[in-house]
Amino acid sequence: MESGLKALWVLSVVLLVSNWQHWTYGKRVPQVPCYFVFGDSLFDNGNNNYLDKAAKANYLPYGIDFDTGASGRCSNGLNIADTIAEQLGFDSYITEFGVGGCTNFLDGVNYGSSGAGILDSSGSLTGEIFTMDAQLFNHNITVSRIAKILGSEEVARKYLSQCIYVSDMGHNDYLNNYFKEEYNSSKQYTPEEYAQHLIEIYETQLEKLYCSGARKIAVFGLIRVGCMPHIIQNHHNDVNASSLCVEKFNSDVQFFNAELLKLLNRLNTKHSDAVFTYINSYEIDSDDQTNTGFTYTRESCCQVESGSVPCKSLSAPCSNRSDYVYWDGAHFTEAKAWAFGKRAYKRQSPKDACPYDISELVKLKLDDSDAYNINHAQL
Ligand SMILES: *[C@@H]1O[C@H](CO)[C@@H](O)[C@H](O)[C@H]1NC(C)=O
Ligand SMILES: *[C@@H]1O[C@H](CO)[C@@H](O)[C@H](O)[C@H]1NC(C)=O
Ligand SMILES: *[C@@H]1O[C@H](CO)[C@@H](O)[C@H](O)[C@H]1NC(C)=O
Ligand SMILES: *[C@@H]1O[C@H](CO)[C@@H](O)[C@H](O)[C@H]1NC(C)=O
Repeated sequence: MESGLKALWVLSVVLLVSNWQHWTYGKRVPQVPCYFVFGDSLFDNGNNNYLDKAAKANYLPYGIDFDTGASGRCSNGLNIADTIAEQLGFDSYITEFGVGGCTNFLDGVNYGSSGAGILDSSGSLTGEIFTMDAQLFNHNITVSRIAKILGSEEVARKYLSQCIYVSDMGHNDYLNNYFKEEYNSSKQYTPEEYAQHLIEIYETQLEKLYCSGARKIAVFGLIRVGCMPHIIQNHHNDVNASSLCVEKFNSDVQFFNAELLKLLNRLNTKHSDAVFTYINSYEIDSDDQTNTGFTYTRESCCQVESGSVPCKSLSAPCSNRSDYVYWDGAHFTEAKAWAFGKRAYKRQSPKDACPYDISELVKLKLDDSDAYNINHAQL
């Protein structure tokens, strides 16, 4: 009798999971049951607020255009991860993990942390962070909670395999490591060797993500870090007169992007039941910003100390935020986050995403029979 009841319970959970849309009856129906976010300050939605000694964006003018004000997002409003949540059809932005107290984890969790990188040492001089390893550790906690709520690991596995995972990592391995002498890594590695080193560690991390049940994974490459206002101000002698960016830094991260693409190809060949897709952030963050409606492409909207990143507390930002690509010395405005997120979700050019954009990733029916190879010729 008891086992019969248990079977009934498992069956109804399975039915619930396979008809998860019905949970949200009367609301917008998201395209996937859940969405998990791993990342740095481009994706952090407040996780650093829970840390004592961390770089935080929890004061005005951050969040000046966000419905609840300063939330920890490094933006005047939404960040890229939020725009993707909205395009996936979620009613609310994905909950931050914080220190583990979040209760709304069935829709997914955002683990992003400003300053975080692939290497545990990256960002360590900026204060406490949730490194990529810490974010994966936190995700393990979420996975156990989901298995508990859904009744078994098997049901959780099926549920988790339908979700979208995004990972945006590597910027701080350059900005808050390789590009800063005090981290020592530029004395140890050439740019090519360093990219290789990062990719080896990232491979282990993405394998862990796969092992935790992720099957639809969008991995973001690195943006044009040499075009960030604080980089331009700190290296004005190296600014390219035509692009107005510090091309040395852009070319360093391009080694990483090239190796990342190869890594994703290897992972796709190895795991035929999963898809790792490459979001070409470098291309999406292209030089042709003025064509996309932005007037100010190399300066911050909010007031920053020259050569530094954060907005001055309680300072008045520019009035027309949608004219600016950069909100502070390093991070995008909501307007740019939307322009970026739209192209990651639905590519505008074949180069934007490879082999799939996120909207295509959502629709894929995965089984074991197909290997998905990234076509290098496409990029
Ligand atoms: C997550 O848990 C699995 C076992 O359940 C373990 O093998 C793996 O190392 C854990 N990952 C992290 C990042 O703690
Ligand atoms: C860099 O090297 C110096 C001298 O060996 C050391 O004191 C410092 O802690 C190192 N920096 C980092 C971030 O490991
Ligand atoms: C400067 O920028 C132009 C146009 O973006 C490019 O063709 C040129 O190679 C750049 N110079 C260097 C040294 O990167
Ligand atoms: C703000 O920027 C938008 C887009 O460039 C433009 O259409 C609008 O006229 C600007 N508004 C003001 C008050 O400058």
